Amino acid sequence: MKKCLQNVNVKDKRVILRVDYNVPIKNGKILDDTKIRETLETINYLVEENCKIILLSHLGKIKNKEDKEKYSLAPVANHLKELLQSEVYFTKEIMSEDLYARVEQLKPKEILMLENTRFADIPGKLESSCDIQLSMFWASLGEIFVNDAFGCAHRRHASNYGIAKHIESCIGFLMQRELYSLNKLVQNPEHPFVVVMSGAKIDDKIELLEKMIEKCDYLLCGGGIANTCLRALNFDIGQSLASFNPMTISKIQKIMLNNQEKIMLPLDAIVGTTYDENYVKYKLIDQIDDNDIILDVGLKTLEKYKTAINEAKTIFLNGTLGLYEDVRFANGTKEFFKMVTNSNAITIVGGGDSASAARNLGYENKFTYISSGGGATIDYLGTGTLIALDIIPEEVAIETLDL
Ligand code: 3PG
Repeated sequence: MKKCLQNVNVKDKRVILRVDYNVPIKNGKILDDTKIRETLETINYLVEENCKIILLSHLGKIKNKEDKEKYSLAPVANHLKELLQSEVYFTKEIMSEDLYARVEQLKPKEILMLENTRFADIPGKLESSCDIQLSMFWASLGEIFVNDAFGCAHRRHASNYGIAKHIESCIGFLMQRELYSLNKLVQNPEHPFVVVMSGAKIDDKIELLEKMIEKCDYLLCGGGIANTCLRALNFDIGQSLASFNPMTISKIQKIMLNNQEKIMLPLDAIVGTTYDENYVKYKLIDQIDDNDIILDVGLKTLEKYKTAINEAKTIFLNGTLGLYEDVRFANGTKEFFKMVTNSNAITIVGGGDSASAARNLGYENKFTYISSGGGATIDYLGTGTLIALDIIPEEVAIETLDL
Protein backbone atom coordinates (compact mmCIF):
# COMPACT_ATOMS: atom_id res chain seq x y z
CA MET A 1 0.00 0.00 0.00
CA LYS A 2 1.22 3.48 -0.81
CA LYS A 3 2.06 5.83 2.05
CA CYS A 4 -1.21 7.33 3.29
CA LEU A 5 -1.87 10.83 4.57
CA GLN A 6 -3.06 9.64 8.01
CA ASN A 7 0.31 7.95 8.56
CA VAL A 8 2.40 11.04 7.84
CA ASN A 9 3.07 13.76 10.37
CA VAL A 10 1.65 16.83 8.66
CA LYS A 11 0.92 18.84 11.79
CA ASP A 12 1.71 22.55 11.34
CA LYS A 13 3.44 21.85 8.01
CA ARG A 14 3.25 23.54 4.62
CA VAL A 15 1.48 20.97 2.46
CA ILE A 16 1.23 20.90 -1.32
CA LEU A 17 -2.04 19.20 -2.18
CA ARG A 18 -2.47 18.09 -5.80
CA VAL A 19 -6.14 17.70 -6.68
CA ASP A 20 -7.96 17.07 -9.96
CA TYR A 21 -10.34 20.00 -10.35
CA ASN A 22 -10.69 19.43 -14.08
CA VAL A 23 -14.43 20.09 -13.93
CA PRO A 24 -16.93 21.29 -16.56
CA ILE A 25 -17.41 25.08 -16.36
CA LYS A 26 -19.81 27.23 -18.35
CA ASN A 27 -19.89 31.02 -18.05
CA GLY A 28 -17.91 30.81 -14.82
CA LYS A 29 -20.36 28.31 -13.29
CA ILE A 30 -19.26 24.80 -12.26
CA LEU A 31 -21.63 22.32 -13.92
CA ASP A 32 -20.55 19.26 -11.93
CA ASP A 33 -18.60 19.75 -8.70
CA THR A 34 -18.30 16.08 -7.71
CA LYS A 35 -14.51 16.03 -8.13
CA ILE A 36 -14.23 19.10 -5.87
CA ARG A 37 -16.54 17.76 -3.17
CA GLU A 38 -14.64 14.49 -3.09
CA THR A 39 -11.46 16.26 -1.97
CA LEU A 40 -13.09 18.01 0.99
CA GLU A 41 -12.22 15.20 3.41
CA THR A 42 -8.52 15.63 2.67
CA ILE A 43 -8.68 19.41 2.83
CA ASN A 44 -10.61 19.40 6.12
CA TYR A 45 -8.13 16.94 7.61
CA LEU A 46 -5.21 19.21 6.68
CA VAL A 47 -7.03 22.21 8.14
CA GLU A 48 -7.61 20.26 11.38
CA GLU A 49 -3.89 19.48 11.43
CA ASN A 50 -3.11 23.19 11.30
CA CYS A 51 -1.44 22.96 7.89
CA LYS A 52 -0.82 25.76 5.43
CA ILE A 53 -2.30 24.36 2.23
CA ILE A 54 -1.06 25.05 -1.28
CA LEU A 55 -3.53 23.66 -3.81
CA LEU A 56 -2.48 22.63 -7.30
CA SER A 57 -4.70 21.45 -10.16
CA HIS A 58 -4.91 21.41 -13.92
CA LEU A 59 -7.99 22.38 -15.91
CA GLY A 60 -8.46 21.46 -19.57
CA LYS A 61 -5.61 21.22 -22.02
CA ILE A 62 -3.60 24.40 -22.64
CA LYS A 63 -2.32 24.68 -26.18
CA ASN A 64 -2.59 28.41 -26.93
CA LYS A 65 -3.29 31.84 -25.44
CA GLU A 66 -7.06 31.48 -25.94
CA ASP A 67 -7.04 28.34 -23.80
CA LYS A 68 -5.47 30.41 -21.03
CA GLU A 69 -8.46 32.78 -21.17
CA LYS A 70 -10.88 29.84 -21.01
CA TYR A 71 -9.30 27.68 -18.36
CA SER A 72 -8.55 29.84 -15.35
CA LEU A 73 -9.09 28.08 -12.01
CA ALA A 74 -10.49 31.29 -10.44
CA PRO A 75 -14.15 30.08 -10.61
CA VAL A 76 -13.09 26.80 -9.00
CA ALA A 77 -11.41 28.67 -6.12
CA ASN A 78 -14.65 30.61 -5.57
CA HIS A 79 -16.68 27.44 -5.63
CA LEU A 80 -14.38 25.72 -3.15
CA LYS A 81 -14.72 28.73 -0.87
CA GLU A 82 -18.51 28.26 -0.88
CA LEU A 83 -18.24 24.54 -0.19
CA LEU A 84 -15.79 25.04 2.68
CA GLN A 85 -17.51 28.17 3.97
CA SER A 86 -14.09 29.67 4.51
CA GLU A 87 -11.57 31.74 2.58
CA VAL A 88 -9.67 30.23 -0.34
CA TYR A 89 -6.98 32.58 -1.62
CA PHE A 90 -6.24 32.44 -5.32
CA THR A 91 -3.10 33.58 -7.12
CA LYS A 92 -2.51 33.91 -10.84
CA GLU A 93 1.13 33.06 -10.20
CA ILE A 94 2.39 29.58 -10.90
CA MET A 95 6.16 29.99 -11.01
CA SER A 96 7.65 33.22 -9.87
CA GLU A 97 9.70 34.56 -6.99
CA ASP A 98 6.57 36.41 -5.81
CA LEU A 99 4.98 33.09 -5.07
CA TYR A 100 7.54 32.43 -2.31
CA ALA A 101 6.51 35.67 -0.63
CA ARG A 102 2.81 34.78 -0.99
CA VAL A 103 3.38 31.32 0.49
CA GLU A 104 5.42 32.84 3.33
CA GLN A 105 2.41 34.96 4.29
CA LEU A 106 0.14 31.93 4.66
CA LYS A 107 -1.11 31.31 8.18
CA PRO A 108 -2.00 27.88 9.62
CA LYS A 109 -5.31 26.53 8.22
CA GLU A 110 -5.19 28.91 5.24
CA ILE A 111 -5.56 27.70 1.66
CA LEU A 112 -3.83 29.18 -1.36
CA MET A 113 -4.86 27.91 -4.80
CA LEU A 114 -2.44 28.48 -7.65
CA GLU A 115 -3.58 29.13 -11.22
CA ASN A 116 -3.96 26.16 -13.59
CA THR A 117 -0.72 24.14 -13.56
CA ARG A 118 -1.01 23.60 -17.33
CA PHE A 119 -0.54 27.33 -17.91
CA ALA A 120 3.12 26.29 -17.58
CA ASP A 121 2.68 24.38 -20.84
CA ILE A 122 3.06 27.62 -22.77
CA PRO A 123 5.73 28.02 -23.81
CA GLY A 124 7.65 24.78 -23.49
CA LYS A 125 5.17 22.21 -22.16
CA LEU A 126 6.90 22.43 -18.78
CA GLU A 127 4.07 20.85 -16.81
CA SER A 128 3.19 18.07 -19.26
CA SER A 129 6.82 17.12 -19.91
CA CYS A 130 7.46 16.90 -16.16
CA ASP A 131 10.16 19.57 -16.38
CA ILE A 132 12.66 19.09 -13.58
CA GLN A 133 13.14 22.79 -12.77
CA LEU A 134 9.40 23.34 -12.51
CA SER A 135 8.98 20.20 -10.40
CA MET A 136 11.73 21.41 -8.03
CA PHE A 137 10.25 24.89 -7.85
CA TRP A 138 6.79 23.62 -6.89
CA ALA A 139 8.30 21.14 -4.45
CA SER A 140 10.22 24.00 -2.79
CA LEU A 141 6.92 25.70 -1.86
CA GLY A 142 6.03 23.02 0.68
CA GLU A 143 7.36 20.44 3.10
CA ILE A 144 5.04 17.54 2.23
CA PHE A 145 3.31 16.56 -1.00
CA VAL A 146 -0.13 14.94 -0.90
CA ASN A 147 -1.40 13.50 -4.16
CA ASP A 148 -5.21 13.29 -4.21
CA ALA A 149 -5.55 13.73 -7.98
CA PHE A 150 -6.69 10.26 -8.96
CA GLY A 151 -8.25 11.48 -12.23
CA CYS A 152 -4.88 12.40 -13.71
CA ALA A 153 -2.67 9.83 -11.96
CA HIS A 154 -2.07 8.16 -15.33
CA ARG A 155 -0.06 11.26 -16.35
CA ARG A 156 3.62 11.89 -15.63
CA HIS A 157 3.40 15.65 -15.11
CA ALA A 158 5.46 18.02 -12.97
CA SER A 159 2.63 18.78 -10.54
CA ASN A 160 1.56 15.20 -9.85
CA TYR A 161 4.76 13.21 -10.40
CA GLY A 162 7.75 15.57 -10.57
CA ILE A 163 7.15 17.17 -7.16
CA ALA A 164 7.08 13.79 -5.43
CA LYS A 165 10.70 13.20 -6.43
CA HIS A 166 11.86 16.06 -4.25
CA ILE A 167 9.85 16.06 -1.00
CA GLU A 168 8.16 13.58 1.32
CA SER A 169 5.03 12.34 -0.43
CA CYS A 170 1.87 10.40 0.27
CA ILE A 171 -1.64 9.84 -1.08
CA GLY A 172 -4.79 11.61 0.13
CA PHE A 173 -8.17 10.16 1.10
CA LEU A 174 -9.80 10.38 -2.34
CA MET A 175 -6.90 8.47 -3.89
CA GLN A 176 -7.12 5.85 -1.12
CA ARG A 177 -10.88 5.37 -1.67
CA GLU A 178 -10.37 4.95 -5.40
CA LEU A 179 -7.58 2.40 -5.04
CA TYR A 180 -9.41 0.45 -2.34
CA SER A 181 -12.60 0.19 -4.44
CA LEU A 182 -10.91 -0.53 -7.75
CA ASN A 183 -8.55 -3.07 -6.20
CA LYS A 184 -11.56 -5.33 -5.67
CA LEU A 185 -11.85 -5.49 -9.45
CA VAL A 186 -8.13 -5.64 -10.17
CA GLN A 187 -7.51 -8.42 -7.67
CA ASN A 188 -10.45 -10.61 -6.72
CA PRO A 189 -13.86 -9.76 -8.10
CA GLU A 190 -16.62 -11.98 -6.75
CA HIS A 191 -18.04 -14.17 -9.55
CA PRO A 192 -20.06 -14.16 -11.69
CA PHE A 193 -18.31 -10.96 -12.73
CA VAL A 194 -20.05 -8.94 -15.44
CA VAL A 195 -18.24 -6.20 -17.34
CA VAL A 196 -20.20 -3.69 -19.36
CA MET A 197 -18.16 -1.82 -21.97
CA SER A 198 -19.75 0.82 -24.10
CA GLY A 199 -19.48 4.39 -25.32
CA ALA A 200 -16.93 6.09 -27.55
CA LYS A 201 -13.05 6.17 -27.36
CA ILE A 202 -13.00 2.58 -28.62
CA ASP A 203 -9.28 2.53 -29.44
CA ASP A 204 -8.43 3.78 -25.92
CA LYS A 205 -10.53 1.05 -24.32
CA ILE A 206 -9.20 -1.92 -26.23
CA GLU A 207 -6.43 -2.64 -23.72
CA LEU A 208 -8.92 -2.62 -20.86
CA LEU A 209 -11.17 -4.90 -22.89
CA GLU A 210 -8.32 -7.39 -23.39
CA LYS A 211 -7.62 -7.46 -19.64
CA MET A 212 -11.23 -7.59 -18.55
CA ILE A 213 -12.24 -10.39 -20.87
CA GLU A 214 -9.79 -12.65 -19.04
CA LYS A 215 -11.27 -11.83 -15.65
CA CYS A 216 -14.98 -11.63 -16.35
CA ASP A 217 -17.71 -14.20 -16.91
CA TYR A 218 -19.78 -12.02 -19.25
CA LEU A 219 -18.92 -8.99 -21.32
CA LEU A 220 -21.98 -6.93 -22.24
CA CYS A 221 -21.31 -4.53 -25.12
CA GLY A 222 -22.96 -1.27 -26.12
CA GLY A 223 -22.23 1.89 -28.12
CA GLY A 224 -19.06 2.06 -30.20
CA ILE A 225 -17.66 -1.18 -28.77
CA ALA A 226 -20.77 -3.14 -29.77
CA ASN A 227 -20.86 -1.47 -33.19
CA THR A 228 -17.21 -2.36 -33.85
CA CYS A 229 -17.93 -5.99 -32.89
CA LEU A 230 -21.06 -6.08 -35.10
CA ARG A 231 -19.16 -4.63 -38.03
CA ALA A 232 -16.41 -7.23 -37.57
CA LEU A 233 -19.18 -9.86 -37.79
CA ASN A 234 -20.29 -8.30 -41.11
CA PHE A 235 -23.46 -6.64 -39.85
CA ASP A 236 -24.40 -3.38 -41.56
CA ILE A 237 -24.15 -0.72 -38.82
CA GLY A 238 -24.88 2.19 -41.19
CA GLN A 239 -23.23 5.40 -40.01
CA SER A 240 -22.92 4.33 -36.37
CA LEU A 241 -19.88 5.11 -34.27
CA ALA A 242 -17.24 2.39 -34.58
CA SER A 243 -13.48 2.03 -34.73
CA PHE A 244 -11.86 1.83 -38.15
CA ASN A 245 -8.41 1.29 -36.69
CA PRO A 246 -7.13 -2.01 -38.19
CA MET A 247 -5.26 -2.87 -34.98
CA THR A 248 -8.39 -2.40 -32.85
CA ILE A 249 -10.52 -4.39 -35.29
CA SER A 250 -8.08 -7.28 -35.36
CA LYS A 251 -7.89 -7.30 -31.53
CA ILE A 252 -11.68 -7.26 -31.30
CA GLN A 253 -11.93 -10.14 -33.77
CA LYS A 254 -9.50 -12.16 -31.71
CA ILE A 255 -11.36 -11.40 -28.46
CA MET A 256 -14.67 -12.46 -30.05
CA LEU A 257 -13.23 -15.63 -31.51
CA ASN A 258 -11.71 -16.77 -28.22
CA ASN A 259 -14.58 -15.74 -25.94
CA GLN A 260 -17.78 -16.45 -27.82
CA GLU A 261 -19.59 -17.74 -24.75
CA LYS A 262 -18.78 -14.61 -22.72
CA ILE A 263 -19.65 -11.81 -25.13
CA MET A 264 -23.15 -10.39 -25.42
CA LEU A 265 -24.07 -8.05 -28.28
CA PRO A 266 -27.24 -6.02 -28.93
CA LEU A 267 -30.21 -7.72 -30.62
CA ASP A 268 -32.05 -4.51 -31.45
CA ALA A 269 -31.58 -0.75 -31.52
CA ILE A 270 -33.20 2.66 -31.64
CA VAL A 271 -31.72 4.46 -34.61
CA GLY A 272 -31.52 7.98 -35.96
CA THR A 273 -30.38 8.85 -39.45
CA THR A 274 -27.94 11.14 -41.18
CA TYR A 275 -30.52 13.01 -43.28
CA ASP A 276 -33.37 13.80 -40.86
CA GLU A 277 -32.84 14.79 -37.25
CA ASN A 278 -36.47 13.94 -36.39
CA TYR A 279 -36.15 10.37 -37.61
CA VAL A 280 -36.24 7.83 -34.75
CA LYS A 281 -36.96 4.15 -35.43
CA TYR A 282 -36.87 0.82 -33.66
CA LYS A 283 -34.93 -1.86 -35.62
CA LEU A 284 -33.66 -5.37 -35.17
CA ILE A 285 -29.88 -5.42 -35.39
CA ASP A 286 -29.89 -7.14 -38.80
CA GLN A 287 -32.22 -4.48 -40.27
CA ILE A 288 -29.91 -1.47 -39.97
CA ASP A 289 -29.75 0.58 -43.18
CA ASP A 290 -26.76 2.38 -44.66
CA ASN A 291 -27.87 5.79 -43.35
CA ASP A 292 -28.96 4.63 -39.90
CA ILE A 293 -27.10 5.61 -36.75
CA ILE A 294 -27.47 3.27 -33.78
CA LEU A 295 -28.13 5.51 -30.77
CA ASP A 296 -29.67 3.25 -28.16
CA VAL A 297 -30.38 -0.41 -27.42
CA GLY A 298 -33.90 -1.85 -27.63
CA LEU A 299 -35.96 -3.97 -25.23
CA LYS A 300 -34.81 -7.33 -26.62
CA THR A 301 -31.21 -6.39 -25.83
CA LEU A 302 -32.18 -5.33 -22.31
CA GLU A 303 -33.96 -8.65 -21.75
CA LYS A 304 -30.90 -10.54 -22.98
CA TYR A 305 -28.51 -8.53 -20.78
CA LYS A 306 -30.79 -9.03 -17.79
CA THR A 307 -29.95 -12.75 -17.71
CA ALA A 308 -26.30 -11.92 -16.96
CA ILE A 309 -27.09 -9.05 -14.58
CA ASN A 310 -29.44 -11.20 -12.48
CA GLU A 311 -26.70 -13.78 -11.91
CA ALA A 312 -23.90 -11.28 -11.25
CA LYS A 313 -22.08 -10.81 -7.94
CA THR A 314 -19.87 -8.01 -9.29
CA ILE A 315 -20.64 -5.58 -12.11
CA PHE A 316 -18.23 -3.06 -13.62
CA LEU A 317 -19.78 -0.51 -15.91
CA ASN A 318 -17.84 1.66 -18.34
CA GLY A 319 -19.84 3.79 -20.76
CA THR A 320 -23.55 4.23 -21.44
CA LEU A 321 -25.72 2.06 -23.70
CA GLY A 322 -27.00 4.99 -25.73
CA LEU A 323 -26.96 8.73 -26.32
CA TYR A 324 -28.67 9.28 -22.97
CA GLU A 325 -28.39 13.09 -23.15
CA ASP A 326 -31.12 12.99 -25.83
CA VAL A 327 -34.39 11.78 -24.23
CA ARG A 328 -35.30 9.88 -27.39
CA PHE A 329 -32.26 7.66 -26.90
CA ALA A 330 -32.07 7.57 -23.09
CA ASN A 331 -34.36 4.64 -22.34
CA GLY A 332 -31.77 1.87 -22.79
CA THR A 333 -29.27 3.51 -20.41
CA LYS A 334 -31.97 4.38 -17.83
CA GLU A 335 -33.52 0.91 -17.80
CA PHE A 336 -30.11 -0.70 -17.70
CA PHE A 337 -29.00 1.43 -14.74
CA LYS A 338 -32.24 0.48 -12.98
CA MET A 339 -31.59 -3.21 -13.64
CA VAL A 340 -27.96 -3.01 -12.47
CA THR A 341 -28.69 -1.04 -9.30
CA ASN A 342 -31.60 -3.37 -8.40
CA SER A 343 -29.32 -6.41 -8.66
CA ASN A 344 -27.63 -7.99 -5.66
CA ALA A 345 -24.18 -7.37 -7.10
CA ILE A 346 -21.41 -5.00 -6.05
CA THR A 347 -21.73 -2.31 -8.73
CA ILE A 348 -18.85 -0.10 -9.78
CA VAL A 349 -18.97 2.68 -12.37
CA GLY A 350 -15.74 3.88 -13.95
CA GLY A 351 -15.22 6.34 -16.76
CA GLY A 352 -16.26 9.97 -17.13
CA ASP A 353 -19.37 9.43 -19.29
CA SER A 354 -20.95 6.67 -17.26
CA ALA A 355 -20.23 8.52 -14.00
CA SER A 356 -21.92 11.69 -15.33
CA ALA A 357 -24.84 9.63 -16.66
CA ALA A 358 -25.26 7.94 -13.27
CA ARG A 359 -25.46 11.35 -11.62
CA ASN A 360 -27.63 13.02 -14.26
CA LEU A 361 -30.12 10.17 -14.34
CA GLY A 362 -30.46 10.12 -10.55
CA TYR A 363 -28.46 6.99 -9.77
CA GLU A 364 -25.59 8.67 -7.92
CA ASN A 365 -26.30 6.94 -4.60
CA LYS A 366 -27.51 3.66 -6.00
CA PHE A 367 -24.24 2.20 -7.27
CA THR A 368 -21.80 0.71 -4.75
CA TYR A 369 -19.04 2.98 -6.05
CA ILE A 370 -18.57 5.61 -8.75
CA SER A 371 -14.96 6.29 -9.66
CA SER A 372 -13.96 9.92 -10.24
CA GLY A 373 -11.52 8.93 -12.99
CA GLY A 374 -11.90 8.40 -16.71
CA GLY A 375 -8.56 7.53 -18.32
CA ALA A 376 -7.02 6.84 -14.90
CA THR A 377 -9.68 4.28 -13.99
CA ILE A 378 -9.25 2.53 -17.31
CA ASP A 379 -5.46 2.50 -16.97
CA TYR A 380 -5.58 1.22 -13.40
CA LEU A 381 -8.01 -1.58 -14.19
CA GLY A 382 -6.08 -2.48 -17.32
CA THR A 383 -2.56 -2.44 -15.88
CA GLY A 384 -3.01 -2.57 -12.10
CA THR A 385 -0.86 0.52 -11.67
CA LEU A 386 -0.71 4.28 -12.29
CA ILE A 387 2.34 6.33 -13.21
CA ALA A 388 1.89 8.98 -10.52
CA LEU A 389 1.66 6.28 -7.85
CA ASP A 390 4.97 4.72 -8.83
CA ILE A 391 6.83 7.65 -7.30
CA ILE A 392 4.96 7.55 -3.96
CA PRO A 393 6.76 5.34 -1.42
CA GLU A 394 5.14 2.26 0.08
CA GLU A 395 4.03 2.26 3.72
CA VAL A 396 6.79 0.95 5.95
CA ALA A 397 5.62 -2.38 7.37
CA ILE A 398 5.76 -2.51 11.20
CA GLU A 399 7.94 -5.65 11.26
CA THR A 400 10.63 -3.93 9.21
CA LEU A 401 10.89 -1.01 11.63
CA ASP A 402 13.95 -0.99 13.81
CA LEU A 403 12.23 -0.55 17.19
C1 3PG B 1 -9.88 13.82 -16.50
O1 3PG B 1 -10.77 14.68 -16.41
O2 3PG B 1 -10.06 12.72 -17.06
C2 3PG B 1 -8.59 14.11 -15.82
O3 3PG B 1 -8.58 15.33 -15.21
C3 3PG B 1 -7.43 13.98 -16.79
O4 3PG B 1 -7.49 14.99 -17.74
P1 3PG B 1 -6.53 14.93 -19.02
O5 3PG B 1 -7.03 13.79 -19.87
O6 3PG B 1 -6.70 16.28 -19.70
O7 3PG B 1 -5.15 14.71 -18.53
